[in-house]
Order: sequence, then C-alpha cells, then structure tokens
Amino acid sequence: MSEAHLWWQRGIVYQVYPRSFQDSDGDGVGDLPGVTSRLDYLRWLGVDALWISPFFPSPMADFGYDVSDYTGVHPMFGTLADFDALVAAAHARGLRVLLDFVPNHSSDQHPWFVASRASRESPYRDWYLWRDPAPGGGPPNNWRSNFGGPAWTLDEATGQYYYHAYLPQQPDLNWRNPAVRAAMLDAMRFWLDRGADGFRVDALRQLVKDEALRDNPPNPAWRPGQNPYDAQLHTYTTDLPEVLTIVEAMRDLLDRYGERVLIGELYLPIERLVAYYGPGGRGCHLPFNFHLILTPWDARRIAALIAAYEAALPPDGWPNWVLGNHDQHRLATRVGPAQARVAAMLLLTLRGTPTLYYGDELGMADVPIPPELVQDPWERRVPGLGLGRDPERTPMQWDAGPGAGFTAGAPWLPLADDYATVNVAAQGADPRSTLALYRRLIALRRAEPALAVGAYAPVPASGHVLAYTREAGGRRLLVALNLGGRAASLALAGRGRALLSTHLDREGERLEGALALRGDEGVVVALDA
Ligand code: NOJ
Repeated sequence: MSEAHLWWQRGIVYQVYPRSFQDSDGDGVGDLPGVTSRLDYLRWLGVDALWISPFFPSPMADFGYDVSDYTGVHPMFGTLADFDALVAAAHARGLRVLLDFVPNHSSDQHPWFVASRASRESPYRDWYLWRDPAPGGGPPNNWRSNFGGPAWTLDEATGQYYYHAYLPQQPDLNWRNPAVRAAMLDAMRFWLDRGADGFRVDALRQLVKDEALRDNPPNPAWRPGQNPYDAQLHTYTTDLPEVLTIVEAMRDLLDRYGERVLIGELYLPIERLVAYYGPGGRGCHLPFNFHLILTPWDARRIAALIAAYEAALPPDGWPNWVLGNHDQHRLATRVGPAQARVAAMLLLTLRGTPTLYYGDELGMADVPIPPELVQDPWERRVPGLGLGRDPERTPMQWDAGPGAGFTAGAPWLPLADDYATVNVAAQGADPRSTLALYRRLIALRRAEPALAVGAYAPVPASGHVLAYTREAGGRRLLVALNLGGRAASLALAGRGRALLSTHLDREGERLEGALALRGDEGVVVALDA
C-alpha cells in the first residue's frame, strides 16, 4: 500500500449511530460500552475508523444533536471513563475513532444559552443570535428552519427573537463572536487530548448567517409536497464565505495533533462543496460528498456525477463517497436489495474514502414506523412528506435472538420484521450474503492499491452499465456495474480474470473480448498486462 497516502485516504469509515448500535445495560438504547463490545466485529469487517454520532449530554430534542455540555458523556451512553476505554480498545485494534462535533447550535438547556436568554445585558447575550421583532412585529425576516416553520422564536421575557436553523431547542451560536470561537475550539481540543482521531463536523455550511439579515429569495424549482425548507434558496443562511475561515481555524487546531481528520457535513452542489477543501488545502480533509445519495440511480447520471466530481476536485483534494447516513433513507430501500449490492461495489471501488452506515453491510432496509411510535422531531413537525428519519435509525441486527442481540430490553425504535434472517450471525455464516460481499469488497480494497489509492478512468459503456478502471503500479482493474435488472454486456479490450462478482460466484473466471453481466451484477476484473 502506498506509503504516500494517509490512513484516512486509504481507509474506510464506518458510522455508528450510538443509540442503535449495541445496548449494554438493557435500557433499550445503545451506549459506549456497547460500541466497545462490538469493536472486534468492526475489525472483522475490515474498516479502519468509526465515526460515532453525538453521545454528549443532551435533552435529546434532536437525539443528541442538541448538546448541553460539549465536554461530557450523556449518562445514557456511559461516562468519560467509558469513552476513554472505547478509544483505548479501538486503538489497540488499529481502529481510529472520530467524533461528531456540533458547532452550529447548542441545546437551549446549555448553560451558555440559559445565561444568554436571561437578559439583554447578559455577557452571554451575544453568544447566540438575538434580534428585535420586525418593525410591525413578528420575526426579523423570512428565514425558515430546516425542520419546518420559522427559524426565529420569540423570547417573551426579553422581547427578542433568537435564530435556530433547526429546532427551537437548538439555538444557533454566534460564530462571529471570538469568545464563541475560542470556547468551541477548546471543546475540540478536549477530545483531541483524549485521543479522538478527528471529527465529522455537523451542519458546517450553516455556521455563519448574513449580518444584514436579508430575506432569502424564493426557490423557483420548489413544488408543493417537497420539503418546505427548500421553498427558499438558502442564500443568506448557508455557505457564507466566512464559514471557511472557521474551517481553517479548526484545521489549524487539528494539524497541531498530527494525523487527525476533519470531515465536514456539507449538503452543497459539487462546485461549492469542493471549496471546502479550503484555499491551499487548508480546509476540510474530506468535505462529505453526498451526491451518490442525491443522484437518481441511473448509470448515465452516475457516470456524469463521477466525471463532474473528479473534474472539480482541487489538485490535492482527496475524494470521498457516501451511500447512507442517519438522515437519509436506507440504501436498500432507495435502490432495492439487488442494486444495494451493486451500490456496495461502486462505493468500495471508487477513488476516494468510502463511509459506510451501520447496517447497510447487511442490506438493512427502512423500517416503517407507525405514527404513534414516531420519535424524530422533524417527522413530528412536518409529518407525511417522508422526511422523518426513524426508519433508517432502527437497531443493528446482530442475531435472531430477542432484541436482535441489540438489547435485552425494549428497543427505543422497533426492530425490522426481518431481523431473524437479516442479521450478522446469519449472514456471517452465509458465503453469498450481503455481509460476505462487503467483507470481500473491503478485503479486496485493502489488498489492491489500485482500488485504495489508484487512478480512476471512465470506460465507455451503454444502457444500464457503468464502467471504469482503477490503476496503480501497472496493475489495472476494471469495474463493471449493471445498474439494470436485465443481462448486459461490456466489450473488453484484451483479456482479464474476474476477481469478484456481487453474486460471489465467478472468481477466477477467464474473460476475453466481452464481459457478460447478469442483471443486478457488478464485477471487478483484473486486466491482463
Ligand atoms: C445534521 C445531522 O446529521 C442531523 O441528524 C441533525 O438533525 C442536524 N444536522 C442538526 O444538528
């Protein structure tokens, strides 16, 4: 493997949603000791790092993305000692640990906000965004919350509104205030000193808002029935130039610790996304690239996406790809179970760091949540549009036993109906399972520098076939993916040997002249020199 590449370039990131990964104490909610107990599984799977969604003290209005103490652990998840034990156990296994840092907003129960709200004269007033009502009364401008409704909430006692990009319980911090910057960088330092290998930074594009409070313009492309937040363009509330200066400050801090990684949560078009590598590469190591989630599952569209992304990357910008997370409907639900295997091969053979979402390696699908069991505040505030995120956050399916091996108690979200068959124990014993495919793909990526760090080149293909080569040190691999359900074929210049099929049944097959693909099949071929 190339020595010139860093661990987060060669490696694979695995996202753990801690509420749903492993419960160790029977309260139905996952916790840090639970994660520690499953590190051997992650080693066995072959990933290099885990990113753990927030486990900090929080009233849980947004399941931990409303932090009331940036340097603690919520008792439900464990203690600081449990965190230290997790990091030590992970590092002993060669696994890195990435934290989820939530800088845009705190909880309304955070002592900073409690003090800020107390009076207009509070020394903490300017830590958040307070404004007088509009001249005739009402919110200061037309800005909308990501989670429905206005982004301004009136505090009756002090007669001013505060801004929240998400829930009213998630007031936005004022990043123009140097004291806020210093306090938040201190919080990052706290975790770096405790051994964190980096951060996924939440809601990064939202950090700075227009000082003049200009109204956001309407979005002409929006249609009724779509997410109401997108009825406006987010011109004055997201992706302001000042955000990059904050990213640079975070990056400077991380760089003082050596090989740490800064990942930004950035839902942005490609041309804006790549700006977050920063001038001179001084920004995010990995601005999260969500475009495989957002692009229709169509070979030509995806070929065009890869070409556009590769072309837009700055010279030293390392690419990355993502197929799922705790905010997006499950991969197997979006593209169907058969194509989910093809998607796995795509993710794990593209150029750039892949991030896996827990359970996708089993082909876990969205679990329908009956209205009375809905937990997600977004679904509660904007019901019926399919925005709710509970379906993709259900417990990890470890085995066929009660609680799916996730909990000895009552799980906080329902288990999938199919957990008795779709689980780690069953799939681990089945050499053709989705889990077996993920393991084989990960092992192949590890064994083949061409896949981990090699050059990418598109290969012309038609219909539902997507094809490309990866090459390093004279070794050239062809990846051919059939995104359709019918048989297809790809012309092969020269000869080769099949290394892996998504069907896990044709390794070693000699190929010449053409590669025949079954429906929903992807194949990695080693091309003869
Ligand atoms: C993005 C997180 O991934 C999501 O789960 C959360 O609700 C919002 N940011 C607000 O923190």
